[in-house]
Amino acid sequence: MTQRRILVTAALPYANGPIHIGHLVEYIQTDIWVRFQKLRGHRCVFVCADDTHGTAIMIRARQENRSEVELIAEMQQRHEADFAGFDIQFDNYGSTNSEENRRLCGEIWAAVTKAGLVVDEDVEQLYDPEAQTSLADRFVRGTCPCCKTPEQYGDHCEKCLHTYSPTELIDPKSTLTGAVPEVRTSAHKFIELEQLHDFLDQWTQSGEHLQTEVANYLKGHFLGAEGDKENPRKVLRNWDVTRPPDYFGFEVPDFPGNYWYVWFDAPIGYLASTKQWCDRHGEDFDQWWRNDATEVHHFIGKDITYFHTLFWPGMLKSAGYNLPTKVHIHGFLTVGGEKMSKTKGTFVQAETYLKHLDPSYLRYYYASKLGAKLDDIDMNLEEFAAKVDSDLVGKVVNIASRSAKFAQPSGLSKTYPEDEGLFAHAAGQGADIAVAYEQCEYNKAMRLIMELAANANKYWDAKQPWLLRKDPERAAELQDVCTVALNLYRQVVVYLAPVLPRLAQQTGELLSSQITHWDDAQTPLVGVAVAPFKHLLQRVNTKDIAAMTEESKEAPTTTPASSADSDQPLLDEPLAEECSFDDFMKVDLRVARVVNAEEVPDARKLVKLTLSLGGDNQRTVFAGIKAAYQPEELVGRLVVMVANLAPRQMKFGLSEGMIIATGPGGKDVVLLQPGEGAQVGQRVH
Ligand code: MSP
Ligand code: ZN
Repeated sequence: MTQRRILVTAALPYANGPIHIGHLVEYIQTDIWVRFQKLRGHRCVFVCADDTHGTAIMIRARQENRSEVELIAEMQQRHEADFAGFDIQFDNYGSTNSEENRRLCGEIWAAVTKAGLVVDEDVEQLYDPEAQTSLADRFVRGTCPCCKTPEQYGDHCEKCLHTYSPTELIDPKSTLTGAVPEVRTSAHKFIELEQLHDFLDQWTQSGEHLQTEVANYLKGHFLGAEGDKENPRKVLRNWDVTRPPDYFGFEVPDFPGNYWYVWFDAPIGYLASTKQWCDRHGEDFDQWWRNDATEVHHFIGKDITYFHTLFWPGMLKSAGYNLPTKVHIHGFLTVGGEKMSKTKGTFVQAETYLKHLDPSYLRYYYASKLGAKLDDIDMNLEEFAAKVDSDLVGKVVNIASRSAKFAQPSGLSKTYPEDEGLFAHAAGQGADIAVAYEQCEYNKAMRLIMELAANANKYWDAKQPWLLRKDPERAAELQDVCTVALNLYRQVVVYLAPVLPRLAQQTGELLSSQITHWDDAQTPLVGVAVAPFKHLLQRVNTKDIAAMTEESKEAPTTTPASSADSDQPLLDEPLAEECSFDDFMKVDLRVARVVNAEEVPDARKLVKLTLSLGGDNQRTVFAGIKAAYQPEELVGRLVVMVANLAPRQMKFGLSEGMIIATGPGGKDVVLLQPGEGAQVGQRVH
């Protein structure tokens, strides 16, 4: 096999919050891939860094009355400790606030400027006069200019979903200081991405670098299809890459007093971290970033797709660096089917997890769930415990714990015994398992490996070695059975080594021979000593899970590391089953006027509405919106209703339709309001 040269990155975690189990999906996924490549004998280097710049860090440092540099140093230490605790092993862990990064930013800036991509534009932004900083949209709150709901973000209303510019907000307030922001115009520099349209179209659509769903998403939302009337070529928006003061970042050399936006310098952190690694190891940086023989693999979450699939390749291309060979994009972690939640104790920090549970559990559990698609990954704590117990403890470790004791006095047989072809079969499976790892289909790899573990257990049970052990004359037979069982176990552990490096290490000690290569699964071990058996992995104690959840409920209210600095759309949440156009058209949505609204005594959630569809066409609808609306404020309002819904008998009367609302529920429900000029009875499409 020819040795590949592979550079791997995981996204740089924000320095403004701790690592949590959501982040760990990515860092564990990437670490497994890197360990797999190394085990296969490739040259593979894994770099990462803390992402340290931006307004959030600046503000937090001020609140904590210390310098940004002090704050990010502490966060970096905590992040590194968390990663080490989960056996996530970087070859270099840098910081975007490093001299290497500053220099590379300058170099790439010079290149994009020389390529004629940089343009000046004035930007009108809200400015917090107390904090002396311009305010990103999420740092402004005010009343929605559309539906007048208070406390809405600077760019969109969570009630009516209207998007607007923060300068349109009514009574805007800075969330940093509570000050009334001023509108200020400042000069910014932009990168004219549209100049790279053809390149980006070709690069994203080549079928080589991105998952199909990502390529399609980009084509649909940003690039458009050329020559297609229905879906004409879209124009890529200019990218605002500088910020006026105050801002924590690097000053732009040819634009004194202004700073590069955090998302300009963050990906350059990949290069800077590689540079540090090269300098420490006497390696040539250009071999890694300006050499066609080197593969570059980025692992990221779906929320930062845009930055890595459009901006970043554009920057690399303009500066003459290697383009990413692949951007591997994963979905988001949910717990029990919901977003991680602090109140429910499912927002578990890495640190908290490690106090209660073994990191190998989570590494294995994520591996068993991760595929190559962008689907979200749901963590179900019962399933977590069950999988670890039945697979890792029940199937894998079980073989070793049963056979090692029997084999300890004698060691392994001198020649590998007859085993009904089991070792050869498992050796043959190595190729398929490797393909699954390579393609990030870890769930498939885990399935194949567990089948092998099941075979080994079956073999052991069929041979009934506990009977052989009672008969001193059959000692040689017993040694042979143990030799087979321990070799089948070792094969399984070789295949699991990228996921469970600790188990691989312990297994190496047990069998006096460390696992160093994927091909160790091809040749059986014979004639070696077996060390006294030490416990490998324990069953999950559900009390520990409960304690972890409990402690997470009390987690300190530090701002979670989030990608909130991003201002690009997310990949959509997974959709419900497809509904045909005809299905959809069956739903008859009509504008209706609320002519009467009253409380329903004894009903906790319901309001009884009388809706008019024009003339004397009236409907009674019971709507679960009591927590959000007073009945009297509804009378006279226009709403949108499903007018052809089959009537439903409810405890309080017959409901003859439904009204359309949005929001998470409870107090946070908002009725869909037809625009001005809507006619009662009119159909809504
Ligand atoms: N700082 C940026 C990345 C800059 S890369 C040049 C950032 N940081 S982050 O801390 O918010 O996220 C780091 C990575 O973790 C991202 O790839 C993000 O998608 C991922 N995840 C953060 N929360 C996650 C989940 N709940 N689930 C899965 N991955 C998650 O973005
Ligand atoms: Zn609104």
